[in-house]
Amino acid sequence: MTIDLTGRDALRNVLQQLCGAAESYTMQHYLAAQLAEVRQQVGSQKVLLGLSGGVDSSVCAALLTHALPGQLTCVFVDHGLMRQHEGEEIEAAFADHDLTLIRVNAQARFLQKLAGITDPEQKRKIIGEEFIHVFDEESAKLGTIPFLAQGTIYPDIAESGSDGSEVIKSHHNVAGLPEDMQFALVEPLKWLYKEEVRELGRLLSLPAALIERQPFPGPGLGVRVIGDITQEKLDLLRVADAILRQELDALPAQSRPSQYFAVHTGVNSVGLKGEQRVYGPVIALRAVVTGDFMSAACAPLPLELFGHIAQRIAVEVPAVSRVVLDITPKPPGTIEWE
Ligand code: XMP
Repeated sequence: MTIDLTGRDALRNVLQQLCGAAESYTMQHYLAAQLAEVRQQVGSQKVLLGLSGGVDSSVCAALLTHALPGQLTCVFVDHGLMRQHEGEEIEAAFADHDLTLIRVNAQARFLQKLAGITDPEQKRKIIGEEFIHVFDEESAKLGTIPFLAQGTIYPDIAESGSDGSEVIKSHHNVAGLPEDMQFALVEPLKWLYKEEVRELGRLLSLPAALIERQPFPGPGLGVRVIGDITQEKLDLLRVADAILRQELDALPAQSRPSQYFAVHTGVNSVGLKGEQRVYGPVIALRAVVTGDFMSAACAPLPLELFGHIAQRIAVEVPAVSRVVLDITPKPPGTIEWE
C-alpha cells in the first residue's frame, strides 16, 4: 500500500486504518512507516546529516541508522560554544550506531571570527555563517552524497504555512543552504510534534540525556557570554554552568525548572576570597518555568538552593567574584540574555 503523505492528519488516519479498529496508532507504527518510506526514497545511496546534538537531529540520526545501516554520514561541527563535555557526550551517544560520525573541531576559527565582536545580532550572524562554511567544506570533502537529512519537525512546517512537501526548511544546522543545492531532502520527523519526537527517541533507545535535553540555542554559549567572546570566558562559564546544571538536574522532575543555565555577564566586581581581594567576572543564574517558552517566570526554588549554588560557583571557579540571580519574567525579559 502506498501512503500519500499529504498531511499529518492524513498520515495518522492511514496508520490508524492499517492498525485496524482493535489497535490504536502508536509511535511504533509511525517508526515502521518512516523506516519503509526512507528505505524506498534512498535505496542504497548515501545520506548526509548535520548533527547538532539537539533532540531533533539526534532522533533523526538514530532513525536513519536503523533504516539505512552504514549509509549515513553525520557531520558534527564543534564551534567551541558547547557546554561542558557536550561534544564528547554526542560522540558517545552515537559510538555504537552504524554510521560515520565526523566531528569537526572548528573552535579556533569561530573564536577568531568572533574576536572583539560585542553586538548580539552580529555574533549570531557570524556564528550562523561560519557554521555553513564549515559544513559546506566538510560535505564537499565527502564527494557526491545525493541526500541531505534534516530533523525538521511539524511545527517548523506548520509555521511556514505550507503542507511541507516542497519546503526546504532553514534548520539551524544547515540554515542558508543555497536554493540551487543538489541534495534531495530526507525529513522523517516532519509529521511529529516535539513530545512525539522524544517518544520516538526513547523507542530508538537514545540516552535520556539527549532526549530530555533543554532547548539550547544554535549559537550556543555565544549568546550567553555578554560582550566580546574569549576562550577564557567560555571556559569559566562552562564550569559555572555545569555546577548549576548538576544541582538542578538532581531535583525531582516535578520541581525541576523548564530551562536553566549560567550567563557570563561581562561585568567585573570585587569579591573577597579568603584574605584575597579579587576583581573578576559576575555570573548570572537563569532558571525559568514555562510551558511554551513564549512566556516564562523565574523558577520558584528556595533561595537557600540558589545561595548554595552561588557559594559553590564562587569557591570552585576562583576568578568569579559574585553570582547573581535573574528573576525577570518573560515578557518583558527574554529567557536568553542575547
Ligand atoms: P528567548 O531568549 O527568545 O528564547 O526567550 C526562547 C527559547 O528559544 C531558545 N533560543 C534558541 N533556540 N536557536 C535555537 O535553537 C536560537 O538561536 C535560539 N535563541 C533562543 C532559548 O534557549 C529559549 O528556550
